[in-house]
Formats: sequence, C-alpha cells, structure tokens
Amino acid sequence: MGRKFFVGGNWKCNGTTEEVKKIVATLNAGEVPSPDVVEVVVSPPYVFLPVVKSSLRPDFHVAAQNCWVKKGGAYTGEVSAEMLVNLDIPWVILGHSERRALLSESNEFVGEKVAYALSKSLKVIACIGETLEQREAGSTMDVVAAQTKAIAERISDWTNVVLAYEPVWAIGTGKVATPAQAQEVHAELRKWLHANVSPEVAVSTRIIYGGSVSGGNCKELAAKPDVDGFLVGGASLKPEFIDIIKSAE
Ligand code: G3H
Repeated sequence: MGRKFFVGGNWKCNGTTEEVKKIVATLNAGEVPSPDVVEVVVSPPYVFLPVVKSSLRPDFHVAAQNCWVKKGGAYTGEVSAEMLVNLDIPWVILGHSERRALLSESNEFVGEKVAYALSKSLKVIACIGETLEQREAGSTMDVVAAQTKAIAERISDWTNVVLAYEPVWAIGTGKVATPAQAQEVHAELRKWLHANVSPEVAVSTRIIYGGSVSGGNCKELAAKPDVDGFLVGGASLKPEFIDIIKSAE
C-alpha cells in the first residue's frame, strides 16, 4: 500500500480562545479529500488541545507540540506523554527546530523523546532540518542523517513515525525550498533509511516537507514522488490550509 498523504498544521505559540474557535470553524467547513486520501493533524498550543479536540471534525486529528522525555513528576512546566495519552491526544510533534535552537534540544535528547513517546503509544511527527550555514557548507545530508540516526538508534518500530524535513532557512521566511531541493533531500533520506534501518521502513515511512508552505506553492511540492505531505506553520492558521490539504489529490 502506498504512503498516505499527510498534512500537519503547527499552530506554534499562537492563538486566543476566540481565534482558535474561528480556525476550527474554518477547518470544519472545509471541503477536503476523504481520510482515505489524506491524514490531517492540527497542533494547537497545549492549553487549547481539549477545546480543539472536542470541537474539531472527526476526520481531523490533533497533536501536541512537544512532550517530556520520560514519565512525569517533578518537572515544572513540562507535560508528559502519559498526560497526552490520558487526554486521548494521538500525535505529538518532537524535535522542531525552534526547540532545538531556542531550548538547546540535542539530537540525542530528541531521539530519547521520540522513543519515549512511541513507547506510550503516541504517534510522532519527528522534525529534522539544516540551517542556512550548514546548507551553504554542503553538509545538509550529514546534518539530517545525524538527526535521523539519533532517532533510529533508539526505536525499533517506525510505523507511528512521520519524518518532517524542515530546512531552518525556509521556516517562517517565505523562502520555500524548491520542489527539486525538497525532493533531493527526501530521496536521500529514504536512501538513508533503506541502508540504515530497512528497505521496508524506507518505503513505508512518510517524509513530509515544512518551511513556508502555502496555498500557492503546495501543488508543485506535492507532485514530487518523495514528498508525502507537509508540516505547515503560518499558513495553517489561515483558510489557505484547506487548499494545502487539497494538494493531496
Ligand atoms: O512546523 C512548521 C514549520 O516550522 C514551518 O513553518 O510554514 O511558518 O514556515 P512555516
């Protein structure tokens, strides 16, 4: 069976109760392809997870934007994987470059978090990507391979993992990767999975692209054979998110 197209909406640290209700109303009214064709997951800030989950259409799912690396306890400010499970939140985004950069999350720490979340039956959108300096130095593949390796070393089952390739230079900048650039890295990542995990995992794991995806550029990107969907930031707060979901067709 082919890889089902996946569209994630990362709302990041945005929204008020009123704005969140408006976004949900827009999503609920959107005409999109069937869940057989596209899997849609939106990720509001923690505090809005319950209201979004209870008011969102049943064919769309929710994700948290992070969770703690081990069982909860004396970790002020953190939210555990167990809590997400308790709230029936199926997905979590881990390793986003904003957390890697601003909160110094290392490859190893992200790998540990991915392994722990999976062990609690959460599904994981695991983010990787290079900075502009790294790209210009020609080390894109080394960087994303090291980030993927830190995950691969700690997990044995990739069924519930979506790999999100998000070049840091494309995030929130309006400077989207060209379809050829995205395809090149996705194909290399698939080769890496083939060689270092297994041919089955390479074929079945969805590799999605993130970084300035919009209603205007999504179709061309989606047409690339190794682009299995998107992780959308800014545009996921706007009605054009529906157009991005439609690029699955
Ligand atoms: O998680 C989403 C990415 O950071 C992309 O954000 O679409 O605003 O560039 P963006």
